Amino acid sequence: MLHKYISTTLCVCVIATSLVACSQETDTKQSAATSQQQSNEAQEEVILPDQHLQKGDRGKDVEIVQQHFINLGYPLSVNGMYDELTTWAITDFQLQLKDDDIEVTGMYDQQTKEALNHQSSQNVKIDPGQAIKQPTQKQQKNETTTIDNPYDVLALINKQHALPADYIPEDLVTPDVRFPFTEDLPKKQMRKVAAKALEDLFQAADDESLDLFAQSGYRSYERQEAIFTANIEKNGEKAANKYSARPGESEHQSGLTMDVTSPSVDYDLVIAFEDTPEGKWIKKHASDYGFIIRYPKGKEDITEYQYEPWHLRYVGKKAAKEITEANITLEEYIGNLQHK
Ligand code: DAL
Ligand code: ZN
Repeated sequence: MLHKYISTTLCVCVIATSLVACSQETDTKQSAATSQQQSNEAQEEVILPDQHLQKGDRGKDVEIVQQHFINLGYPLSVNGMYDELTTWAITDFQLQLKDDDIEVTGMYDQQTKEALNHQSSQNVKIDPGQAIKQPTQKQQKNETTTIDNPYDVLALINKQHALPADYIPEDLVTPDVRFPFTEDLPKKQMRKVAAKALEDLFQAADDESLDLFAQSGYRSYERQEAIFTANIEKNGEKAANKYSARPGESEHQSGLTMDVTSPSVDYDLVIAFEDTPEGKWIKKHASDYGFIIRYPKGKEDITEYQYEPWHLRYVGKKAAKEITEANITLEEYIGNLQHK
């Protein structure tokens, strides 16, 4: 039944995109029969891809996913580019199904595929744009714009791209990792997807007998405002903004970030952390768990922040590997995706 529904709806896509011909069983020649068989097999295989897909990806699998979302009522076009609009549609869908324990990432993954299949078979109502508004704005050069989709795991948050002041992630949880304090503070929290990845990272560090601690994760807009104001009072605005973000411009508000440290630097967030066994391990292995060192050494002119060997940002394993191996920043990575 589910299979029939998807096959029928996808047939339109298949014709439109020349992925597979929706041909009838009229051919008689052997070669045509073989081709028909392959076509039928291909048609079954293309129903929904197994492939993990994310912003910047291109190709037939993206087309299939886009067509599926068009069938759900999302105003996408089948262009085969996993663009902002596709990211929005996936995020909006994930948010509407969040009670199903689905991770909200803006990425198409196995969980999303299963949720789409479940939605189709159970006819779960999806209201496009109900959870997150369709992005409309165009980026103006040299202006700070407000991020349309703060749930996007690849969202670029910096001095040009700020989170909405009222953005509070809906899926904050406290990761089961070590903190150097016992109080149950909001800064222990991260978004679910990042918290799980941090737990894996800590487990791996523990296996290496390292003494890693989590110091500071989620911060609300208001908390960042208080911190930034205090830092201005201490050092003046220009100096403060080299190590402390204005409210809205901090990745800590996204819930995708954790500052980590170790006892050998007194649990401080200092550059000396890079020389500790924990800091060296983080540099080498953070990307294995989907994290990047967001403000690297030598890239201060791009990130516009000082080097922070302790500030980990979750971007997912694929992007983390690509960013780390290429020794680039998130700014460069996102810029490259747009010109791909
Ligand atoms: N220390 C980083 C830049 C922040 O304040 O978010
Ligand atoms: Zn930080």
